[in-house]
Amino acid sequence: MQIIKTVQEMQAFSLEQRAGGRTIALVPTMGYLHDGHISLLREGRKHADVLVMSLFVNPMQFGPQEDLAKYPRDFARDSRLAEDAGTDVIFYPDAEQMYPGPFKTSVQVSELSAVLCGKTRPGHFRGVATVVAKLFNIVVPHRAIFGEKDFQQLMILRQMVRDLNIPVEIIGMPIVREQDGLAMSSRNMYLSPDERRRSLSLSAGLFRALDSFRKGEVKSKELIKIVHDGILPAGLREDYIDVIDEASLKPLDEAADNARIVAAVYAGSVRLIDNMALKKN
Ligand code: PAF
Repeated sequence: MQIIKTVQEMQAFSLEQRAGGRTIALVPTMGYLHDGHISLLREGRKHADVLVMSLFVNPMQFGPQEDLAKYPRDFARDSRLAEDAGTDVIFYPDAEQMYPGPFKTSVQVSELSAVLCGKTRPGHFRGVATVVAKLFNIVVPHRAIFGEKDFQQLMILRQMVRDLNIPVEIIGMPIVREQDGLAMSSRNMYLSPDERRRSLSLSAGLFRALDSFRKGEVKSKELIKIVHDGILPAGLREDYIDVIDEASLKPLDEAADNARIVAAVYAGSVRLIDNMALKKN
């Protein structure tokens, strides 16, 4: 496995691979890998001759009060796990490589970025879309793989490649959960044992809402209440719980085709997100 740290080398490597007729899959990450990332890497491995994982904790997607400085980092462990999952190259630039000098351009996917997590984290999705657009230009992949855990991010990036005619196929992968149901996230390591235990009420509530939907409940108000009634006694604070249309991310009064229940809550100061497609089976 190769580790490439500069934009110039990464671009040259990718263009050479493409000239040789090889396909490239990219899994963008901010590191501190868990099984969710590994599932993306394994999927990427199936879809291309060359698998590139980028590892960059992108300052542009963190708000001034957010956890950029203390975001967990462990490059030695990440590179071991990435190699085991079949990665050929880790693209591992520093902030100076990605944002040299004054930076004046950004990618803003309107409407989709303003709702749900975008309300609490203004500027976050502008940072995500901008860095992913840059990564697409640097790594020049044929395909890129993202997790459904960040469902809003996935939809925003799909819209971005459509709107800007970026020739990259976006592949979405299901959420990977801990055995007890908690959606895997690098941020779970911030949870104290007590918060970790209480956090389970989020996935449990979503599973209960899905079950109720499958038994015939379609009213969003009722489905949202099920999640709400689960997290409150556990002492989690709601940011949002919504039933949305998957494509527009707009709230629905009733769960129809392509509905998804989405939630963001706080366990202490740790913000957790999770979601589930409301499908009959
Ligand atoms: O999902 C993430 O880890 C990040 O938002 C991403 C896509 C790597 C961009 O920094």
